[in-house]
Amino acid sequence: MTNKTVVRGRRLAPWAGFTFMLTKLRRFGSRALSCCRSWIQAFRRHSLEEKDIHITMGKLFYGSQTGTTTGVARKIRKHLNGLISEVKSIQYAQPHELAACDFLVLGGATYGDGELTDDWKRFWPLMDSISFAGKRVALFALGDQFGYSYTFASGMKQLYDKVSDSGGQVIADCIPTADFEFTQSESLVDGYFIGLVIDEVNQPELTEKRIRAWASIVRQQLALACTA
Ligand SMILES: Cc1cc2nc3c(=O)[nH]c(=O)nc-3n(C[C@H](O)[C@H](O)[C@H](O)COP(=O)(O)O)c2cc1C
Repeated sequence: MTNKTVVRGRRLAPWAGFTFMLTKLRRFGSRALSCCRSWIQAFRRHSLEEKDIHITMGKLFYGSQTGTTTGVARKIRKHLNGLISEVKSIQYAQPHELAACDFLVLGGATYGDGELTDDWKRFWPLMDSISFAGKRVALFALGDQFGYSYTFASGMKQLYDKVSDSGGQVIADCIPTADFEFTQSESLVDGYFIGLVIDEVNQPELTEKRIRAWASIVRQQLALACTA
C-alpha cells in the first residue's frame, strides 16, 4: 500500500507566489489608475468652473424712479447666483466700474415716451467713455404693457444700441413675447425681446418665472462663450 498524501485543491507551482503578487499589483494598479483618472477629471472640471467664474463674474447696474426695479434687480441677482458680484443703482455708479467687468447686466424701468429713467439719462454722456468691446451684456426692462402699450419696455433699446455700437455682445437677446399683450415696443428685434421684460404693474406673479427662464439662457450663452 502506497502512502500518499492527498492535497485538496490545486498543486502550487514554485512561481505561484510571484503570479499571485503580480495579480494583486495589477488590481491595485488599475484601481490606482482609475482613481488618478477621476482626480484628473475632477481637477479639470474644477479648473473649468474657476475659469468660467473668473471670465464671467459681472455686475448689475439698474435705473429706477420709484423703486420697483430695485426689487427686480435683487431677484435677478438671486437667479444669476455666482455670476453677479454686485447690484448697484446707476445713480451711484462710476464708468470705470462698468469698464472693469467682462459681464454686465444693464437695465431699468421705462419712462416718458419709452425712454430710460432719469438716473440713466444723467449717466448717459459717460457711456461714451466706456468701451464695451469684448464684453457680454444682458439687458432687462420694466414696463407697463396696458398703461403704455405703444412704448412698452422701449427704454432697453437705447442700451442695446449703445452696447452693440461700442462692440459689446448682447446675450439672451431673443426672448419670446408670449404672455404679454401690447401694441408696440422698440425693444423688439425680429419679433423677439432683446432682453428680459418684466411687468410688475400687471403681471407680478410672472416675474419670478420670467427671470428664471431668462437667467438660464444667460448662463448657457456665457458657458458657450467660455468654452468657445
Ligand atoms: C410717468 C410714467 C411714464 C411711464 N412710461 C412708460 C413707458 O413709456 N413704457 C412702459 O412700458 N412703461 C412705462 N411706465 C411704467 C413704468 O416703467 C413701470 O411702472 C415700472 O415698473 C416703474 O419702475 P420703477 O418703480 O423702478 O421706476 C411709466 C410710468 C410712469 C409713472
